[in-house]
Amino acid sequence: MLKKIKKITDLHRELTEARKSKKKISLVPTMGNLHEGHLSLIKHAQNISEYVVVSIFVNPTQFVAGEDYNKYPRTLDADTESISKLDVNLVFTPDTNEIYSDNYQTPIEVPVSYLESIHCGKSRPGHFRGVVTVVSELFNIVQPDIAIFGEKDYQQLLIIRNLVKNLFLPIEIISLPTVREESGLAMSSRNNYLSQSDRQRAPMLYECIKTTIKSIKNGVKDYVDLEKEAKLFLEKAGFKIDYYSICDLDTLRSPINENLVILAAVWLGKTRLIDNARVHTYD
Ligand code: PAF
Repeated sequence: MLKKIKKITDLHRELTEARKSKKKISLVPTMGNLHEGHLSLIKHAQNISEYVVVSIFVNPTQFVAGEDYNKYPRTLDADTESISKLDVNLVFTPDTNEIYSDNYQTPIEVPVSYLESIHCGKSRPGHFRGVVTVVSELFNIVQPDIAIFGEKDYQQLLIIRNLVKNLFLPIEIISLPTVREESGLAMSSRNNYLSQSDRQRAPMLYECIKTTIKSIKNGVKDYVDLEKEAKLFLEKAGFKIDYYSICDLDTLRSPINENLVILAAVWLGKTRLIDNARVHTYD
């Protein structure tokens, strides 16, 4: 039976019981508006742990001024309904005051300044500070053995891995591949913002990433040129480019070997889409 909990004290009471019976606890942090991507993380959590916590919290500190915090889709009833069909033990849905009291003064900065300063960190200054703050809090509140994140937010994933490594947090971070619609479009709550015509066009982003990967696999080594080509293709198709970058899989710096990931963020109208793919896992 799914327990729905809003208060940290209640959550602690529940988890103390789970810990007493030595259950392995996993946490799937989300901002709600759950789609198949989230559900794949939750299902995996069920397979690898005995107690699954899903958190749903639209975290205000990771939205930069002028972004979509107010209009971000909040679908708590539908979310709890879909979670209750799965074998989740607890859904944690704190109010903003529960996580950030009025005089909240402890934002977390992790020592990964390069990673935070590029790509989404550059376009959305302060975004990752908000992410690591809330993720640190959720880790402290739940104290999970395992936390599971999607690879769609690849830069976020690396930053969270660094957070755990640098602060010696005893949490295993597991990541799972991006779940895509049949068209190839990466599932995202922000896809809801797309107009009908932009929705038809959006899958071209992944098509473009796959084309870049094919070129690399065919031996093209001039990555700057490939990036330029991809940007031109996307611009012609009506996308506005934030970044399109072929980079090192582990550091996101300029590639030094064949261990590559392609990261992209684009605008279609007022909707910002991100996507990525590793070169070596694409067939
Ligand atoms: O990836 C997300 O949905 C959010 O950034 C996260 C990790 C739940 C933190 O708010």
